[in-house]
Amino acid sequence: MTRAKFITFEGVDGAGKSTHLAWFTETLRQRGIDVLLTREPGGTPLGESLRRILLHEAMHPETEAMLMFAARREHLEQIILPALECGTWVISDRFSDASFAYQGGGRGVPVAKLEQLEKWVQGELQPDLTLLFDIPIEVARERLANNSSLDRFEQEQAEFFQRVRQAYLQRAAKMPQRFAIIHAEKTLEDVKKELSLIVANI
Ligand code: TMP
Repeated sequence: MTRAKFITFEGVDGAGKSTHLAWFTETLRQRGIDVLLTREPGGTPLGESLRRILLHEAMHPETEAMLMFAARREHLEQIILPALECGTWVISDRFSDASFAYQGGGRGVPVAKLEQLEKWVQGELQPDLTLLFDIPIEVARERLANNSSLDRFEQEQAEFFQRVRQAYLQRAAKMPQRFAIIHAEKTLEDVKKELSLIVANI
């Protein structure tokens, strides 16, 4: 039996990753794989409380980074590691790459500080596979335009998202063995085709 895998979904707001999460999870379940779907920030009662604060209250960028990793520490301890140990695959809607992209790229928190938090919170653990939904920022913003209740991150300007996108791509270039870049501006059907190829090779 193959070891339980830890898979993460990443991308700028409006890239459409959430649309594909349910389908991806269902496809794995149809193959008889036991899958747990979770998200960050969140995934635990404390993590969900921190999520409400992080998405709606103004704070210093380093406070934001530390709270993201604090929620992650709890998430790993209570949800992710116990599931993997029991043989359950874990799919997380965002994980540490989002901290490098948003707090690092977007807010300008030094990468060295984020790497310290990463080491502290997760040691050497990294996802087995990260699907990065990459999309031109203009397209992502058009998709968000129909949403009337934008959170603190979604309200940021295009330049912020350009930096987030670049930081994601840099992170993918640094760890190409675990990243798959999905061209998310394509039609739903075409994105699904890209995902089907990935699922078939997991
Ligand atoms: P979501 O809308 O995909 O659920 O994510 C919530 C927001 O939190 C999203 O705008 C990205 C942001 N975020 C960070 O800034 N840093 C992080 O480490 C994580 C996990 C999310």
